[in-house]
Amino acid sequence: MKIFIDTAEIEEIKTAISWGVIDGVTTNPSLIKKAVDKKQGKVSMENYIKEIVKVTPGPVSLEVLGGNAEKMIEEGKLLYRKFSQYGKVVIKIPVNPSIHENDGLEFDGLKAVKQLSNEGIPVNVTLVMSPEQALLAAKAGATYVSPFAGRIDDYIRTKMGIKMGLDFKKESYFDLNLIRMATVEKICNLLQGLNSISEVYRNEHVRKILDTGQDNGVWSGVDLVLKILQIFRNYNFKTEVIAASIRNARQAREVAETGVHIVTMPFDAIKGMIMHIKTVEGMRNFTSDIVPQYRELFSR
Ligand code: E4P
Repeated sequence: MKIFIDTAEIEEIKTAISWGVIDGVTTNPSLIKKAVDKKQGKVSMENYIKEIVKVTPGPVSLEVLGGNAEKMIEEGKLLYRKFSQYGKVVIKIPVNPSIHENDGLEFDGLKAVKQLSNEGIPVNVTLVMSPEQALLAAKAGATYVSPFAGRIDDYIRTKMGIKMGLDFKKESYFDLNLIRMATVEKICNLLQGLNSISEVYRNEHVRKILDTGQDNGVWSGVDLVLKILQIFRNYNFKTEVIAASIRNARQAREVAETGVHIVTMPFDAIKGMIMHIKTVEGMRNFTSDIVPQYRELFSR
C-alpha cells in the first residue's frame, strides 16, 4: 500500500518523507491557501507549489477550480504544463462539479476526466462519495479515484443526529460495530410487534432505523472504499483507489485491511500510526535496564 500525505505544508511533507514512508502528496485549494497564508506574502503561490512538487518523490495532486468541463480541461492542462517539469503532477478533478442539483453540470467532471486522460494527463477524481461515482470515474479513464471516507462517516453521524464538534471531533474514530449492534437491537425491539416478513419490510420505523445508520447501502467510509475496490476488481479496472479524508490511524488501518492501493492522510494521522503506549513503556524499561557491560559492547 502506498501512503500519500494530505497536506500543503512543506515542512510536514519533508519530515514525513524523511521517515521513509511517503509515496506522494495530495492537496486541495483549502490546504494550499492555509499553508501559503502562513508565509504572509513571503512566497508566491506558484513558487510554493513548485517547491512541493520538487521535494516530493511521487505524484502531487493539484486541483482545478473551474465548474464546467471546458474550464477544468483548460486549467488541468495549465497546471500540468506549469508544474510537471519539476516532478510528477496529477490533476484533481471533482467527480460532479454541480453546485446546485440539476444545474446541468453533473457530468462535466467526467467529461474533463475523459479528455485529460486521453491526452495522457493523469487524473485523480476527487470528492467521490459513492461507489456509483467511482465506477463512472473509472469508466471515464481516471488514473485514481479518491473516496472521502471521513466525510461519509461525518454524513452518517449527522444523519443519526450526532453533531461534529459537540458529540465527536473531526479526528474521532467512527465505530461501525457499535452502530451495527445498536441498529440490530433497535430493529429487534420493533420486530416484537410485527407478525410477518412483509410487515417488517414495509414497516416505516424499521426503514427509518436502517436508513439513519447508512448512506444508500454504504455503512461507513471504510465500507465505501471496500465496495469501490470490489467493483474495480470485478471488472479489472486499472484505476487506483486513494482512500482520502482519513482522520485517524485506526481508519487508515481499516482501509489497509480492504487492500486499498493508496491511503492519503494528514501529518498527525500518520504520526498516530507509530504511537502505542506499550511501545513507549517497553522503550523506557529497556533503557533503564542498560548496564555498563552492555554499553561497553558498543565502544569497539
Ligand atoms: C483529499 O484529497 C482531500 O484533500 C482530503 O482528504 C479531505 O479531507 P477532509 O475531509 O479531512 O477535509
